[in-house]
Amino acid sequence: MAQIGIIGTGSMGGMLVRSFVGSGAVRPDAIVASNRTAAKRRALAAETGIRCGRDNREVAGGADVVFLCVRPSEVRGVLCELRDELSPEKVLVSIAAGVLLEDLQAWTEARVVRVIPALTSEVLKGASLVAFGERATEEDRETVLALLNAIGRAVEVEERDIEALTLLTSCGPAFVAALMEEMAAAAVRQGGVRPDLAKLLVKETLMGTAGLIEESDFGRLIARVATPGGVTEKGVAVIRERGPGMFDGMMRAALGKKE
Ligand SMILES: NC(=O)c1ccc[n+]([C@@H]2O[C@H](COP(=O)([O-])OP(=O)(O)OC[C@H]3O[C@@H](n4cnc5c(N)ncnc54)[C@H](OP(=O)(O)O)[C@@H]3O)[C@@H](O)[C@H]2O)c1
Repeated sequence: MAQIGIIGTGSMGGMLVRSFVGSGAVRPDAIVASNRTAAKRRALAAETGIRCGRDNREVAGGADVVFLCVRPSEVRGVLCELRDELSPEKVLVSIAAGVLLEDLQAWTEARVVRVIPALTSEVLKGASLVAFGERATEEDRETVLALLNAIGRAVEVEERDIEALTLLTSCGPAFVAALMEEMAAAAVRQGGVRPDLAKLLVKETLMGTAGLIEESDFGRLIARVATPGGVTEKGVAVIRERGPGMFDGMMRAALGKKE
């Protein structure tokens, strides 16, 4: 089994470790992790049973596949530090947003992969976006896709599409949660119901809808609920009319486009 290294055990690095171990995709003793603040990596090791590396060099030296989970501004410095350990036999998986394959390949000799994971992998759902560098082999492809498919769905994409697709996957849970809060708030304003009750019911509906959509698609699900001439149909018509304007604005803002 491939030895997995995790550099940076913050929010995403910690989530990947918990999900790899929790899903059974990787045995805890096949994962070694390092983090700038030692207490954080020790706490994760105590929680999950993985091994703690003394430092980044030990982790990179002992692993076949290294997940680099530091902030984008720290990527270049860490790769510089690991120039000797990250030899051409190693696979480097960078999860840093906005750090291009071209730059990663210039900063390391390892075979490079870019992955944008999503917090939804904590519950083994959702999608990870994957783009492979030129040096990655077919075996690397299989290894990385198998790891990510164990904690959700791995979707191979063109690197140029990652920025827009990230809005649907990695940012998606925040957008969906904000929408659900607005739906509950509208029920309070327009229907006079209690805020806590509205939130509870919207949350239950969201979880139930996720279960239904797994075996269906959006159109079929809407058709099953919205009987012709009924209240659901009226509500859906308002979403159809006003939704595009709101979502276009949301996407433009997130992509940094001018109004
Ligand atoms: N958050 C998301 O939803 C999300 C989604 C997709 C991709 N990403 C990407 O994931 C990466 C990590 O994001 P995050 O939200 O997990 O950030 P985070 O919680 O700040 O985690 C970063 C971790 O890296 C550690 N670190 C910093 N410099 C280091 C070094 N030189 N050596 C070893 N460890 C070092 C930090 O240690 P300390 O304990 O000392 O701070 C921290 O634990 C980012 O590049 C981001 O673009 C995030």
